[in-house]
Amino acid sequence: MTASEPQRVERQQTDKGYVPVYTTAVVEQPWASYSRTDHQTWATLFQRQREVLKGRACREFIENQERFQMAPNAIPRFDDLNEVLAKATGWQLVGVEGLLPELVFFDHLANRRFPVTWWIRKPEQLDYLAEPDLFHDLFGHVPLLLNPVFADYMEAYGKGGVKAHGIGAEALVNLTRLYWYTVEFGLIRQDDGLRIYGSGIVSSKGESIHCLESPAPNRIGFDLKRIMKTRYRIDTYQKTYFVIDSFDQLMDATRPDFRPIYAELAEQPSIPAGDVLATDAVFNRGTGEGWAKDGDV
Ligand code: PHE
Ligand code: FE
Repeated sequence: MTASEPQRVERQQTDKGYVPVYTTAVVEQPWASYSRTDHQTWATLFQRQREVLKGRACREFIENQERFQMAPNAIPRFDDLNEVLAKATGWQLVGVEGLLPELVFFDHLANRRFPVTWWIRKPEQLDYLAEPDLFHDLFGHVPLLLNPVFADYMEAYGKGGVKAHGIGAEALVNLTRLYWYTVEFGLIRQDDGLRIYGSGIVSSKGESIHCLESPAPNRIGFDLKRIMKTRYRIDTYQKTYFVIDSFDQLMDATRPDFRPIYAELAEQPSIPAGDVLATDAVFNRGTGEGWAKDGDV
């Protein structure tokens, strides 16, 4: 889940299939209405990613994912997951129809509520979907909400979002890039090598392999201001991944007041998604193989 512009098309399951609706309210998970196909889609993706992520996802993701004891062949019930979350870090999942206006999204996070899209993709969309669905939100984002440091980071991000929203559109762009390159597409360096923690990666088989094993992308050490200036990809694999050493590093780096940082960055140009700078701590310089020439957002 990320935020989007207000008025974005969302959808609802009806007897005509999924049709657009415009609510940004919290909705009850309509668990009894999931079809056999929906459960099967979950099962296929769940079992496939559990295999792909062995040795690729970070320790914290794998261990916390297991704590939920999700059945492999049925869509989990938010109520069951919420019992585990409540005891561990006080986070709570709330059902939503889809992408939310930024301020609504930030307000949820600031109050330790994570919005989860209730509907799941169709069987022909197993490998790619242009917007978050249940599998991305639940499988990708929820495990790390059991990690105390990451749980605090997500709340701090929500509060920072409310604040940035009051500052202006440019501040929001800077903050969104931080979310993109950490929460959605972050890598972490562990004892045995680079590992994945970003939810946009863990919910994608192709990108789980690509981000670690392909020679194409850059892998660069975390640098807050650098990330806040860096454009990104929404329709291809990332050209650059940023690597943290620990969730504590992420928490410490983002603790300061961002106001002066937003003001400083407003004077500076953005950085194309694939550029490597002389000041970067480079783990791997990408070959750029297969990169689209334009389309950075
Ligand atoms: N420290 C940030 C601010 O003052 C808030 C924040 C925390 C933003 C963590 C992102 C992540 O705006
Ligand atoms: Fe997401």
